[in-house]
Amino acid sequence: MLSNQAAAPGKRTSLHGHWSSRMAFILAVTGSAVGLGNIWKFPYVAGQNGGGAFVLVYLACVAIIGMPVMMSEILIGRRGRRNPIATMALLGAEEGKSANWKFIGAMGVLAGILILSYYSVIGGWTLSYVFKSAVGVFADATADKVTAVRDGFVASWSTVALFHTVFMGLNIFVVARGVERGLEQAVRFLVPALLLLMLLLLGYSISTGYFDEGLAFMFKPDFSKLDWDSVLAAMGQAFFTLSIGMGAVMAYGAYLPEETSIMGSATAVAIADTTIAILAGLVIFPLVFANNLDPGEGPGLEFITLPLAFGQMPGGTFFATVFFMLLSFAAWTSAISLMEPAVAWVVEKFHRTRAQAAVMIGLMIWALGLGTVLSFNVLADFRFLRGTIFDNLDHLTINIMLPLGGVLITVFAGWVMCRNSTADELGGSGPLYKLWRLLARFAAPIGILFVFLKAVGLLPDLS
Ligand code: TRP
Repeated sequence: MLSNQAAAPGKRTSLHGHWSSRMAFILAVTGSAVGLGNIWKFPYVAGQNGGGAFVLVYLACVAIIGMPVMMSEILIGRRGRRNPIATMALLGAEEGKSANWKFIGAMGVLAGILILSYYSVIGGWTLSYVFKSAVGVFADATADKVTAVRDGFVASWSTVALFHTVFMGLNIFVVARGVERGLEQAVRFLVPALLLLMLLLLGYSISTGYFDEGLAFMFKPDFSKLDWDSVLAAMGQAFFTLSIGMGAVMAYGAYLPEETSIMGSATAVAIADTTIAILAGLVIFPLVFANNLDPGEGPGLEFITLPLAFGQMPGGTFFATVFFMLLSFAAWTSAISLMEPAVAWVVEKFHRTRAQAAVMIGLMIWALGLGTVLSFNVLADFRFLRGTIFDNLDHLTINIMLPLGGVLITVFAGWVMCRNSTADELGGSGPLYKLWRLLARFAAPIGILFVFLKAVGLLPDLS
């Protein structure tokens, strides 16, 4: 007799439909992965942490921690074929363990909601810069002017709220249309468009004559600039940029056709995501050096430094518009993946249509986002713990919830699920499977915990 444990998952289907092909899945996860994290955050975090050495640590984090976590998420998602909460409960029980593993799913759904609440504000900000660039606001602008434009934008809470509203509207629209007609259609157009725009900008950046400086900054390691905080930042960045640790990839995995290779897809996504982050650095740093600007400028890099750089250059208005459009597309395909776990959960649990669920969850996230909107103006002086409401949300989600989620997800896939189940999903128990299992059981959870405890100061300094 067939063991029903092995037979049942294969027959499961998702209530939400499935990706029409392996390529659609890869595009969707790449669309999720490539976002503000690659183009806005990676260059400035790398800049603040000294460039090359940080990039190396980040690459190691992607390979040793990011890849096994991502594969774990996809395999859990595909085996359960439900929203992350129901999937973890189902698989926990099916493996003869506890259904309480569903709390990891719940933490993920919550993390997605919290992340999107501020991600959308930055996404809206990006969108507003498409229009500003297009009408030539930055043409020949001085540093003072660009700063004034930025300050003027963030000072007006109603403008920030307006673009946050537009951005959330776009997300609700796509997610409401469902997996194939919404998510898949969006990524099929947006991800290739994003790549094209990126290559266009790269050509532009090479033409500045400062490409070598950019290369050197990104790839010449200076380990004196590295401390545990930067290692935590590199790990947090790896989590954030790969969209792992909160069930977004798990939710997408639930729609993955049975025969598709999980290892192959995860590898393709990790390579695409890393390539785009590095390309973004190679677009941005030459512009920074060509204009004598500071690579360690911080979050303002994209909104101050770049408009300034573009403003000084021939064709700047056009390329600035292209750049912010690229960034908006990237943010959009990421935002929809942050919503998907919560929306799938509402559809399954409360028997709502996708449209109803998307509007409900979207409105909730929109309302939460007002906290971030106000962090830049009315409530800018309201500081606690790590700073403004935005600073706290950013820290709580990226540095705490995602790593914690990552540890629990790999522990679940590596220790709670039996060998047969995971080998079944990963296509056999060959050497690559063994490598995955080693990383998922030991390297990833231990690595994450170590860096995490070290950075929050809970481990003694041995050096
Ligand atoms: N990866 C996206 C970026 O780099 C952000 C993102 C989308 C994300 N979905 C996520 C981050 C899930 C963490 C978890 O901008």
